[in-house]
Amino acid sequence: MSGDPARFLNAFAQALAAMALYRDGHPARERALDVAHQQIQDLQSDTARPLFTFLGDEVVFGRLPLRELKSWDWGKRLAQAGIQRLEFEDAVSREDFEGFLEEVLARLTLSAISTEARQMRRSSIRFGAVGLKGESELAPEPLPTATISFSLGEEVDTVRWLQREVQTTGAVPLVEAEAVVRSLAIAMHGGRQVMLPLLQLKEFDQYTTTHSLNVAVLSMALAEFLGLSATDVRTFGIAGLLHDIGKTKIPLEVLTKPGKLTAEERALMNEHPAAGARMLLEVEEDLDLAVVVAYEHHIMINGGGYPVLRYARDCHQASKLVHVCDVYDALRTRRPYREAWSFEKTLGYLEERGGLEFDPELCGTFVRMMKQWEGQVALLPDVSAFITTATPPPPGAKRERTGV
Ligand SMILES: [Fe+2]
Ligand SMILES: [Fe+2]
Repeated sequence: MSGDPARFLNAFAQALAAMALYRDGHPARERALDVAHQQIQDLQSDTARPLFTFLGDEVVFGRLPLRELKSWDWGKRLAQAGIQRLEFEDAVSREDFEGFLEEVLARLTLSAISTEARQMRRSSIRFGAVGLKGESELAPEPLPTATISFSLGEEVDTVRWLQREVQTTGAVPLVEAEAVVRSLAIAMHGGRQVMLPLLQLKEFDQYTTTHSLNVAVLSMALAEFLGLSATDVRTFGIAGLLHDIGKTKIPLEVLTKPGKLTAEERALMNEHPAAGARMLLEVEEDLDLAVVVAYEHHIMINGGGYPVLRYARDCHQASKLVHVCDVYDALRTRRPYREAWSFEKTLGYLEERGGLEFDPELCGTFVRMMKQWEGQVALLPDVSAFITTATPPPPGAKRERTGV
């Protein structure tokens, strides 16, 4: 059967709507997905690489504006969510198609979810309209690469809200965490090549937020580089995002203290893996991997680090993976007690510590990935809308502390 671009887009929108309404496995959701998947296959039988561009009111298929979709509001919604371009390069399996739609949906609904949730539960928190601002404006012509322009502002705000929610209620809002990870996945896959959107810390007291997002991105990148499935990649993303959730229990003065910690402060700091694991255990959903990673991400391969295990044993692969990403991001970030390390110095440190602190194979793979994808790292300033009151640390409070 021959394909039709407008028919596909309508089926695509219906599938997104059904996915927003029905849970996994619901017949209405499955049917809508089947129809849309069939439509893309039909379209690909005529056009090898169907390409859609969403420019405000206009929907363009290849170079052809689709006039019948002039009043189709999904084009505008997709463009506003940073999805200005949709291209299907190869045959898409049903599973990949569903995963991709879930990511699109997360991107579309992220701000709605977080806004609603914030208004409902914490109306005192200020937030503003943070658009998806790119470093450069999108050209009217479809760009060959970097097709999503984004700032991760919504994601940062959501994670910040999530951490406060954990602090005040003790509960971990998983729906929002999952939406953030899906949204990061689509930010990473907007172009032809994978992109690593990494946030640059602006205020010291925002470290845990930007760090959690960066560790999620790096963990997903490494999982993908290792060839894991899209579902596993996202599971690693959740584990990366929540690895330091136990830090929400530590006072900010300790977290942002320049210089050496006292013995008590150090003990408090070292509690965060166990505290995080306990919090994640309380979430009803199955978060096994995130629990293990929260608990194990500071344990070194030679048995050093913390918490100290009563009986030495090997840590989970995911914990070792997040550990490498964790240390990379910590060293690359300016902290109250030291400057940010350079790309080369950080990779050198990781290589040196392979086999001692890090799993040598994973650490070697991470270094290879970063060298290969260095050009695909997008450094984004933290432009989130939350008001912060951080004060910079006194000058001269510098000491080479690698602590993460
Ligand atoms: Fe940690
Ligand atoms: Fe960390």
